[in-house]
Amino acid sequence: MKAKDLAKPGTMLSRRSFIKAMGYSLTGLIGLTNTPRGLLNQTSYNTGKPPIIGPSKMSYVVLPDTQYYCSHNNGIFQRMTQWIVENLTTYNIKMVLHEGDIVNDPTRIRQWEVAKEAIDNLDRNSIPTLLSLGNHDAVTIRNPIDFRRYFPVSRYSVLEDRLRSISEYGTYEGHPENAYLKQEVGKHNFLYLTLEFAPRRSVVEWARKVIEKHSHSFVVVVTHLFLYHDGSLSGARHPHNASLYGLTDHYTGEKLWEDLISRSSDIKVVHSGHHVNGPYSAVREGHGVNGNRVSQQYANYQDMYNGGDGWMRMVTVDMETWESKVSTYTPYGDEWSSDPLENFNVNFDRWVS
Ligand SMILES: [Fe+2]
Repeated sequence: MKAKDLAKPGTMLSRRSFIKAMGYSLTGLIGLTNTPRGLLNQTSYNTGKPPIIGPSKMSYVVLPDTQYYCSHNNGIFQRMTQWIVENLTTYNIKMVLHEGDIVNDPTRIRQWEVAKEAIDNLDRNSIPTLLSLGNHDAVTIRNPIDFRRYFPVSRYSVLEDRLRSISEYGTYEGHPENAYLKQEVGKHNFLYLTLEFAPRRSVVEWARKVIEKHSHSFVVVVTHLFLYHDGSLSGARHPHNASLYGLTDHYTGEKLWEDLISRSSDIKVVHSGHHVNGPYSAVREGHGVNGNRVSQQYANYQDMYNGGDGWMRMVTVDMETWESKVSTYTPYGDEWSSDPLENFNVNFDRWVS
């Protein structure tokens, strides 16, 4: 979302008031089933809470756009990462991904400091993180100086040494906006890959080689712009598409799906955020050219009160059955979402890594 288009904090609509303003017609209008919180009946409240998990399961957490937590400096980003630290064992959390738009104004040092304080808490507790570059995280998207300064690639070598669960990491041209972390969990390999905002052709080629090199891994891709809130892949027809940011060499979500995501049997999930002008969550389930299931998930709560009210996502994978549970939680409101777009199961194809 372009900075100039952003509503001022005082004018933001909460999820509930947004739906009310739409006369509750949004669901039927676009075929999505996001339920306004507060309208849920008592029996469904917090039923999205996942069970405490056993040794055959692992989780990773996805942080949606945190830009307003940083510009408001309201402490919510810190509460989110602190919850992860406190629940590391309960949910066997192995990785934290960030969808990008970490900060709102990349020229404001204070916003980077707020973000760094929140992420540093994960670093101190030996929780690996892979951060995506959002359009708000750089004055010049292809040269994100401050993103590289505050979250340099050197973080990954430190994590590799200290955690040992990161068996390998790599980057494109040495920069953190295109990077991967390889992680061994039990006897399985997980590969987490972040791609820059609307990646260049050469980056997509690099990503393809990385995935091929680590074949039979459970691959999770995170990139800021991929799926829109209406559940469609990003393209030139959408508002806030990549061409509006002065990028010539870039892949849309549609092209990324066609040329990379759908062609790999190993890519299981793609996470993205970026633009919100309706529901805060969307899911698109597709099948690659080899028939494999790919879960594509959009989540972005930035237009809710307090810059998102602390909502974040957790994906729990059963490494025996490959059934997975997607949960959404806010430590700010201490609530697990029961919304079917935020609380659902994905049965990944069985395969042996
Ligand atoms: Fe964005």
